[in-house]
Amino acid sequence: MRTIETLKSTHNLPDAELLELLETADEALIRQLKAAALEVKLAVKGEEVLRRGLIEWSNVCRNDCLYCGIRRSRQGVARYTLSREQILSCCERIHAAGIGTFVLQGGENPAGALELVPIVRTMRERWPSTAITLSLGELPFETYALLKEAGANRFLLRHETANPEHYRQLHPAPMRLESRLECLHELRRLGFEVGMGMMVGSPGQSRQHLLEDIRLMQSFGPEMIGIGPFIPQADTPFEHHPAGSAETTLRLLAIMRLILPQANIPSTTALAVLTGSKQAGLEAGANVVMPVFTPETEKIKYDLYKGKYHV
Ligand code: 5AD
Repeated sequence: MRTIETLKSTHNLPDAELLELLETADEALIRQLKAAALEVKLAVKGEEVLRRGLIEWSNVCRNDCLYCGIRRSRQGVARYTLSREQILSCCERIHAAGIGTFVLQGGENPAGALELVPIVRTMRERWPSTAITLSLGELPFETYALLKEAGANRFLLRHETANPEHYRQLHPAPMRLESRLECLHELRRLGFEVGMGMMVGSPGQSRQHLLEDIRLMQSFGPEMIGIGPFIPQADTPFEHHPAGSAETTLRLLAIMRLILPQANIPSTTALAVLTGSKQAGLEAGANVVMPVFTPETEKIKYDLYKGKYHV
């Protein structure tokens, strides 16, 4: 199949052929796409599925993203922020499980993020060889610098959509795609390994938008790529919108594996909610899983989308 061989060898295809891969009903072609992604993953990243221990630090968020279950204006969310002791005890459990990366993720909360600086420093002192990944949204550049200096290595900040108009449909003012992209560039400049990514099938997303996402990620070349389907959440403006397609998500994972062979790509929880497990993602080119180590009592409150804490 010329299309996929071309993608494998040049890490690039014209737009029309990428669109065809996203849209085709030709099952043989799609089997080959996923098989090629799996082959490239095994050749470049090896057999090992990398594990990252996820600590959902806080569901306090200043933003009001229309899709998200911890958006600021969603009522009935019991807001929490883990204490220093709770975070360090999550780290103990992650380390004891033999996992080499802590991921601290939370809502966008600049004041709270600043309080994480000394905690990150302690994590770095206690576990010198464990990678520390942060996923805390858009923060003042000084805060990014302080977190980096305290010992964090990586930062995940999904761009959510590469199209400015579509970005505005998902994120009310003052959020802007431009400032998200500026943050991604600053994070890289500071020496973080950077992750970006988006939801598949978010309301208003077209095939053309997905193509723009592919091109944006291709040109930025993130070290990590997070892609999951949109899943509606109750009591959000998008609660009645249909979920994104698991199949399209898998195709996009496979395409990104072929375009950026070195990237670390998780098989996301949102995808597992739709497919029943992390397996399909791993077979389409993903090489990372992120088991959740948030304390049970708080885990149910980190309720980004329907079904999240049941997998
Ligand atoms: N469906 C799927 N993913 C979601 N996220 C937030 N809300 C939803 C939803 N309803 C994703 C966003 C965000 C990440 C932490 O979770 O892409 O970046």
